[in-house]
Amino acid sequence: MKTRVLGKTGFEVSEIGLGCWQLGNDFGPVEDQEAAAILQSAVDEGIHFFDTADVYGGGLSEQRIGQWRKTLSNQPIIATKVGRNSELYPNGYSKAKVKESLQASAKRLGVEAVDLAQLHCVPRDILFSGDLLAWMEDFKQEGIIKHFGASVEMLDEAKFCCEHPQIASLQILFNVFRQDAVDSLLPLASKNDVGIIVRLPLASGLLTGKMGLNHTFSEHDHRSYNKDGAAFHVGETFNGIPFEKGIALVEALKEKLPEEHNILDVSLRWILDQPQVSSIIAGASRSSQVVRNAAASNLPPLSKELHSLLADFYRMEVRDEIRGGI
Ligand SMILES: NC(=O)c1ccc[n+]([C@@H]2O[C@H](COP(=O)([O-])OP(=O)(O)OC[C@H]3O[C@@H](n4cnc5c(N)ncnc54)[C@H](OP(=O)(O)O)[C@@H]3O)[C@@H](O)[C@H]2O)c1
Repeated sequence: MKTRVLGKTGFEVSEIGLGCWQLGNDFGPVEDQEAAAILQSAVDEGIHFFDTADVYGGGLSEQRIGQWRKTLSNQPIIATKVGRNSELYPNGYSKAKVKESLQASAKRLGVEAVDLAQLHCVPRDILFSGDLLAWMEDFKQEGIIKHFGASVEMLDEAKFCCEHPQIASLQILFNVFRQDAVDSLLPLASKNDVGIIVRLPLASGLLTGKMGLNHTFSEHDHRSYNKDGAAFHVGETFNGIPFEKGIALVEALKEKLPEEHNILDVSLRWILDQPQVSSIIAGASRSSQVVRNAAASNLPPLSKELHSLLADFYRMEVRDEIRGGI
């Protein structure tokens, strides 16, 4: 597993990390034993960067990570998020409540100070007011968190955050079906030493190529109840693309890929080929997926021809299908 520096944190993170939303049972139930196996296989594969949030399973994801990390001699780097629990979102933000939220996360994770606390897709006007970022500076000063970053929906929010002098990282939606950040964000992030954490690398699983039109999701899976944005931002589930259209696009892209390439490996490798990316936090609901995704770190870069094929396919076939803005 290769590592990269995560912006101003200076942390050396594994270029494939683990997204732990699944450990909150938000993609369907993951039994305790499987959750432990997912975390263990991550470590076995050299993954030592984990992303979670206080709201994943109402704290379950953080609790599971906290329990598990007690058994480790080498501590992983754990990023969590703040700003979406019902106390705060959408308009209950106060410095005291945000601090309380972060302290509760630290307790569940079993750490003195959170390694990286990310604002969690907070409402645009609240982000742009700057108060939350100023509070994060204070929490860093007080030692409640070691570093702070933000997870955002839109590129203009990402650019705004990049200009903040202390922000260490940005978590963005970025994959072969959402490529705009290549030109409009990554150079700025790199110039300002802001580490890029990539979420939804597989567009909620679409880009694994394993799903068909008859694929079903449990009622507790956001890919069932938020497939058209009924519960949270429409751009999040399946990358904002209507499921049926997403399946058709994946099938069309598969047809275009040279025979020796499969869509899952190509999708992960395309992201790693962007030097400004620090880590891909691929989500996994079973340990075999972790092992498969970790292997992308050792794949060779994609050819120039394949990069242009993917750029053309995105521009001509995919971009206009994304709902919720970019
Ligand atoms: N607002 C935010 O800040 C925000 C929003 C979304 C996600 N995130 C973070 O980003 C992480 C990654 O995003 P994501 O999990 O939503 O999307 P993702 O990584 O694009 O897709 C994850 C899903 O893809 C499937 N998958 C992954 N690897 C596979 C493999 N090797 N073979 C077969 N299937 C595979 C699994 O589906 P099945 O479960 O169906 O097998 C898995 O649940 C999350 O875990 C979370 O930590 C943050």
